[in-house]
Formats: sequence, C-alpha cells, structure tokens
Amino acid sequence: MKTVVKNEVYTGTVTDYTHEGMGVIKVDGYPVFIKDVLKDEKIQFKVIKANKNFGFGRNLNILEPSNNRVEPPCEYYYQCGGCQIQPLSYSEQLNFKKQTVDRNMNRQAKLDIETFDTVGMEAPHHYRNKSQIPVKRVNGKVQMGFYKPRSHDIVDIKTCYIQKDLHNQLMNKIRPYLDSVSIYDEATHKGLLRHLVIRSNHDNTEVQVGFITNGRKNQFQDIIQMLNKEFPEVVSIIQNINTKKTNVIYGDETIVLKGHAYITDELLGKKFKIRAKSFYQVNHSQTEKLYQKAIEAAGLTGTETIMDTYCGIGTIGQCAGDYAEKIIGIEVVESAVVDARENAELNGIHHAEYYLGKSEEVMKELVKKGIKPDVVFVDPPRKGCHEAFLDSLVEVQPEKIIYISCNPSTLQRDLKYLNKEGYQVSPVTPVDLFPHTNHTEAVVLLEWETT
Ligand SMILES: C[S@@+](CC[C@H](N)C(=O)[O-])C[C@H]1O[C@@H](n2cnc3c(N)ncnc32)[C@H](O)[C@@H]1O
Repeated sequence: MKTVVKNEVYTGTVTDYTHEGMGVIKVDGYPVFIKDVLKDEKIQFKVIKANKNFGFGRNLNILEPSNNRVEPPCEYYYQCGGCQIQPLSYSEQLNFKKQTVDRNMNRQAKLDIETFDTVGMEAPHHYRNKSQIPVKRVNGKVQMGFYKPRSHDIVDIKTCYIQKDLHNQLMNKIRPYLDSVSIYDEATHKGLLRHLVIRSNHDNTEVQVGFITNGRKNQFQDIIQMLNKEFPEVVSIIQNINTKKTNVIYGDETIVLKGHAYITDELLGKKFKIRAKSFYQVNHSQTEKLYQKAIEAAGLTGTETIMDTYCGIGTIGQCAGDYAEKIIGIEVVESAVVDARENAELNGIHHAEYYLGKSEEVMKELVKKGIKPDVVFVDPPRKGCHEAFLDSLVEVQPEKIIYISCNPSTLQRDLKYLNKEGYQVSPVTPVDLFPHTNHTEAVVLLEWETT
C-alpha cells in the first residue's frame, strides 16, 4: 500500500539491501529503494518515484552513517554505470552477496540450505582482464570510457578502478590517435569505430587489442605501429566487423591485423587459447578459486565421465580432466568450440569431445545415444538453464551436478526444479568474481538421492 508522496522528503533507517545493492527503507511498511546507502544508516531522502507496491528515493543527507561506509575509490563512481556498490566496504560487499544468495536459496526456493561466506579477493581492484570500451565523438572530441547507468552517454574515463592497469594505459595511449579515425555515431549509423576491446592474460604477457567497426575500412595503421613499438605484449590485434544497428558488440566477421586471432592464458596449470568472441571469466585469480571449489565438489576418482555443459573454451572440464576418464563439452558459440578443441590438444588431453550447439538440444541427443555422465558441470549464462536441459539431466541422472551460476535468481529457480525431481542440494558457496559491482557468482553441488 502506497504510504509516500512523490517529491516529498522523508527520514528513515535503511533496514535491508535489494538484490541490486540498493538500500531499502520501509515507510509504514511501504518499501522505498535508494542507491548508495548502507544498512543501518539513518538518512533523509526524497521520493522520486512511487509505484503501487514500492518506490524509489534519492539520498539527500546521511544523518547517521554506517561504520561500513567508505569513500568510493573511483572518482567516476557517481557518474559511471560500471560499478554499483563502491560505498560499501569490501567486507560489507561480501556480506551483501552472501545475503543475496541466501535469500534466493531459502526465501525464494525454500531449499533450507546453508550459504557459506562469500570467497573474497585479496586485492579487489584492477582485476578485469577484458575491457569493452565504447567510443564516441561529442562536439569534435573523442570520448572513451563506460556508459552512464541506463544510457548510452559515455563517462570519459582516464582510469577505471576495476579494469587492469595495463588496460588503462593502453586506453590512454590509443585515445589521441582516435582524433584521426572515423568514429561511429549510433544516431546516424555512420562512422567506423564502435568499440575498443582489450583483453589480457593473467601476467600481462599476452594482450589482444580489438577494433569493433561498422565496416571493413582499416584506419588503425598508426595505432598498430605505436603498439608494436611501445607494447610488445600486444600479440594479437583484430578487427571485428559489426554493421548492424544493435547493442550487441561483436559482429560475425573477425580479421586478424597482427599476430594470432587469440591470446593464451593459464588456469590451474592448464593453457587456454581465447579468441575474441569466446567467453572467458574476467577475474583470473577468483576464477581459479571458483573452479577449485567446483572440482573439489565433484570428488572425482579418475573413472568418471564428466560433462562440461555451457563449456565456453573448455576451461572447467579441462581443469578437472586429470581426474576423469572422459570429458564431454557442449557450447553454442562456434569460436569457443574451436578454442576448446585446440585447448584440449594444447593441454595434451586426448579424452575430450566437444559438441557445438545448445546444451538443451545436444544433451537430449547425447542421452538418446546412451551417453551417461557421472558428473555434470553446469555453467549457464545469466538466464539460467532451459527446462528441456534440466529434463535431460533428470533423465540421465548423473550422480553429481555442479552448478556454477552468475545469477542467484535463475540459480534458485533451477535448483528448485532439480530438487523437486530428486536432487539433494548442498550448501552454496558465493565467490566474488566482480568486486564493486552487484554481480554475484556461486557454486553448488547437487547429488542424486538414492533412497
Ligand atoms: C557463463 S559462461 C561459462 C563458460 C565456461 N564454463 C567458463 O567457465 O568460462 C556461459 C557459456 O554458455 C554459452 N551458452 C549460452 N547459451 C548456451 C546454450 N543454450 N547452450 C550451450 N552453451 C550456451 C555461452 O556462449 C558461454 O560460453
């Protein structure tokens, strides 16, 4: 029931966080969501939107700050949409993520399971190994950085606190060269350069620079020369052509301008080639912790057939593969399957097979062919698993499923489904892959109930 009036000012105490990391203040039971305020803080706020069952407010004044409040370490935080929870101390960020997962498991899915503490990062900054930087020309001046929240206006950024330092250096080095490059304009769908993409391996020995362009013209020779001279670690330069009117960054065609089409990184002692369009986790050290948890949960003995569904470039299966008899991977992006097959070779793995297609379709076919995995790793995108995929899982009944998720809301939906069908859910471990953002990763073991 609405108990507030738009544009009126109220005073209240934050009692909770939303799953997006906003503070919640209840006014006579009516929840108002407010950005950049912390649990237990007393604030003065203005109501900016009042829907029937909930509203939004703007913080005007913090009357009693929380001990967990910190000054956002990034000078662009209040303009940029890249991070959402920088005013929370890092320990409070980890608490917030644990709470988000726990609510989903227990309040939403009613699974009645424990949520462990979030596995945090030792130095939670400059971790992103992939930067997709939109480029614009405004009043004759090139802007590059990240979008403002819910907009395509760019915050012109010199240093991003979460992307790797080397990416900041490259971005600033390339910036003046763009004065003489044709820049894409979304409104007219004219101009060449849409995004600059930078991706690097964990020790910065291999870096890929990518130009995403509206057309095939190459106006990047001067930049390539400069990179050759000043950044020998840039071992791959690519141009990806995207001529569509779309928010999707990559187009279908990729041209190699220097070196290989890929860079190579290492995870848990295995090597991985990564092509521009293939998925690869953005936080190297935390990914190793996540995979270690997943592999531990699998409890492999060396005799198992493991399935790596939504496998990307084959990372989880190959990291677990030393302890398995056979690896079967499924992935929908073609370049990632190419990478996965090459990576198996690179790692001397001869007991892996990769299938190109949707997990929900390929899994069904494999089940029909009588393939029976003992352990299935499930690592879908944010939208979670298709019901047809979950049905195939239930049909084939692997002893263990290890579900890795980047979205607690679809995780709880899928776990609830599998639990109803007979899988017992173990405690969940959140792992912080995305410090300072409201994104939450989690890993959980499910076991087939034999009784
Ligand atoms: C969260 S990523 C995980 C990738 C990999 N397991 C890793 O750890 O790097 C999800 C992957 O699922 C792929 N994908 C998305 N929808 C899919 C589907 N329906 N079937 C198979 N793969 C899919 C994406 O291309 C992406 O590589």
